[in-house]
Amino acid sequence: MKIKLSFLLILNLIVFNQSTSDEMFNIGKEIFLNSGNCATCHSLKDAGSIANVGPNLNEIRPNIGRVINSVTNGIGVMPAQLGILSEKEIEAVAYYVSEASMN
Ligand code: HEC
Repeated sequence: MKIKLSFLLILNLIVFNQSTSDEMFNIGKEIFLNSGNCATCHSLKDAGSIANVGPNLNEIRPNIGRVINSVTNGIGVMPAQLGILSEKEIEAVAYYVSEASMN
């Protein structure tokens, strides 16, 4: 009985983690396309964007920290988004970009 219970608990954790990261991916994609305006300047295959004001994200494949930095502080002509997007939204869009640019 005890073994069965802990097995269920572990299974739950795996399924739960999976669905929360999928959720973050979807929220991040929404921000990329809409409130974050990223798609107006960047190409990213998963988002269907083909702009080339900024670097093609499928080519530079930035990790999550690199995206958080550039979006929070701005870089070159890219405007900082902190204040426009919340920290949580920046995390979500950074998660999305780091995952989606791998494909
Ligand atoms: C006004 C156009 C514009 C918008 C909007 C924009 N970017 Fe950028 N982005 C740029 C440009 C230009 C660069 C290159 C800056 C440089 O290296 O001087 C850049 C660079 C980057 C980089 C690479 C940073 C590095 O370390 O080299 C990432 C990642 C990035 N943008 C992600 C995003 C995300 C995510 C969004 C949406 C929240 C976004 N950008 C919105 C124009 C834009």
